[in-house]
Amino acid sequence: MPVARPTVYITRKIPDPAIALLTESLDVSVWPEEDEAVPRDVLIREVKGVDGLLCVLTEKVDRELLDAAPRLKIVANMAVGYDNIDVGSCTKRGILVTNTPDVLTDATADLAFALLLATARRLPEARDFLLKGQWKTWSPMLLTGKEVHGATLGIVGMGRIGQAVAKRARGFDMKVLYYSKRRNPQVEEEIGARYVDKETLLRESDYVSLHLPLTPETRGFIGERELRMMKPTAVLINTARGAVVDERALCKALMEGWIWAAGLDVFEVEPLPVDSPLRTLPNVVLLPHIGSATVKTRTDMALLAARNIRDYLVTGRVHTPVNPEVIQRY
Ligand code: NAP
Ligand code: GLV
Repeated sequence: MPVARPTVYITRKIPDPAIALLTESLDVSVWPEEDEAVPRDVLIREVKGVDGLLCVLTEKVDRELLDAAPRLKIVANMAVGYDNIDVGSCTKRGILVTNTPDVLTDATADLAFALLLATARRLPEARDFLLKGQWKTWSPMLLTGKEVHGATLGIVGMGRIGQAVAKRARGFDMKVLYYSKRRNPQVEEEIGARYVDKETLLRESDYVSLHLPLTPETRGFIGERELRMMKPTAVLINTARGAVVDERALCKALMEGWIWAAGLDVFEVEPLPVDSPLRTLPNVVLLPHIGSATVKTRTDMALLAARNIRDYLVTGRVHTPVNPEVIQRY
């Protein structure tokens, strides 16, 4: 009797090489849209009989979804952050969760640094100025911004991406401070970063760049109290997760000049609501969550997620587990 091939549902049209990798040995269904998330009712229906789920960060993998998927063995997130997944409930049910670390570190660090430069030097504003026909002549103080080279950068969360940003900052002769859950003497030596407490980092940095995961502990990590500690000339860069910052407090800080500007790739609610006050502020640069968005990196992320599913379902091997205790249990 032929053995049934494991089944997988993919919640978004992902790069072809990743789909091809899965279809070699698994039965695969895909939500066919690239720019539209799978509706929740369709997702709940589709996961009913599947062994594996390859999802993106817009999908909430919660108890309701897990209840609807009694055969599920692995959830492979095509993202390094996994705050969209109830990992505790997956672990209780013996479901492996994987993410996509490392392959996106450099692309995301590049974007964080690009956003820092764009915010400091007011690039979107300058482009609009030119395109709107407002450029009449060279002018001594026209669109003047802030120095980046030689300034102090405070990195919050000195993990993979935090370290990659610190390396870029050294190329700009920046002084690097960091605050993280743990001190990392190797980073201090290699990159020349100095470990400080949260308050010192906020008070002394010209730029604060966030690279923490979103967890119950880090939700609202930057709120009114923290924003008031920052220099009135400081810039906040967030490429981590929107909810790490209290957005209402940030709007107030930007409007009332507690800080100079912010560069944001991530938001409490995504896509950013049309009535968000952030859209109307002149001193904020907004991007639509494109931290890892290069062709190569997104393809590598999809391939890693696909390899996690295929190898786990076919051979029991796993590459980047979030809850390895699920495997160790057996
Ligand atoms: P990572 O290597 O795990 O780094 C996270 C760092 O934050 C770790 O050093 C961690 O310390 C530290 N940390 C955790 N909780 C903390 C707390 N309460 N206080 C202080 N430090 C804390 O992760 P990564 O690969 O650099 O990614 C970081 C985050 O970036 C992801 O979780 C994701 O949300 C976001 N991201 C966004 C984009 C985008 O498109 N904008 C792209 C990629 C990633 P320990 O190691 O000691 O726990
Ligand atoms: C993107 O935001 C990721 O976590 O990979």
